[in-house]
Amino acid sequence: MKIDADVLDVIRSARCAGPALYLGGQLEDSLYRRVNLTLAAVGGKWNRWKSGHFFPVEAADAVAGLLAEGEVTTDAERGYFPTPPALVDEILDLADIQAGQEVLEPSAGTGAMAQRIADRGGVVDCVELDPGRAEAIRSRSFAREVIVADFLALPVSARYDRVVMNPPFAKQVDILHVRRALRWVRPEGLLVAIMFAGLTFRTNALAADFRSQVREARGTIHPLPDHWFGPVRTVVTVIPVRPPLPAPTGRRSGEVARAEQNPSQEGLF
Ligand SMILES: C[S@@+](CC[C@H](N)C(=O)[O-])C[C@H]1O[C@@H](n2cnc3c(N)ncnc32)[C@H](O)[C@@H]1O
Repeated sequence: MKIDADVLDVIRSARCAGPALYLGGQLEDSLYRRVNLTLAAVGGKWNRWKSGHFFPVEAADAVAGLLAEGEVTTDAERGYFPTPPALVDEILDLADIQAGQEVLEPSAGTGAMAQRIADRGGVVDCVELDPGRAEAIRSRSFAREVIVADFLALPVSARYDRVVMNPPFAKQVDILHVRRALRWVRPEGLLVAIMFAGLTFRTNALAADFRSQVREARGTIHPLPDHWFGPVRTVVTVIPVRPPLPAPTGRRSGEVARAEQNPSQEGLF
């Protein structure tokens, strides 16, 4: 995001003291919101008791880059939309999280879902691309493992009872994340994902193939109420992963054996 000149002026004239940045005087609402969004993009959090923005590093270092470049990448541009707590509980109910289950959160953000999985007794591993967000999870010590990585590039291992996720949505990348995540679910496990509602009506091959995969797996796609993610319409996709089929016996013809095959295993991955 290119930063407006008036926002840059406000930040340039702010006072930095260690991790704190203090804005000079009262700003009108719209200007304050834009300043706040810009500071949040580099890790600044408003502390109303101390009347300043606080950063995980020296405030002057945190804002040096955006002042030099006049640009910043916002959380929304990075696809960061934390799941609201009440929705997390609905998702975890759908996923039927039980104590002792091994659960993967492959786009974990700051752990909105992962923390609640651990609270329910799940053994949760997290993957997150953004090192700052991964650190926010690590520092709370509820996850078994926190990996800073591009989930789409991690080597696959089908070992989790559950995958629960709210991946980035831009340009249908949520479909790529969910298809890959399915490969991490062990047979008889379950994947539950918040996804962009576009997958239910888009006619391109990626969306159409994904709908077929969900159907063949006897999965479901539930629309979510509009209020959860503002203007972004979302759905919850639930996909069971079925056990592998026994090898056909010699007495039956290959054709009969194929007809008996569980269709959920075809074309899923
Ligand atoms: C929509 S947010 C959801 C965060 C968290 N799952 C939640 O429910 O609050 C998506 C997260 O995925 C992360 N992300 C984006 N691309 C990723 C990738 N390729 N691998 C791992 N994480 C990624 C983003 O940094 C962001 O934190």
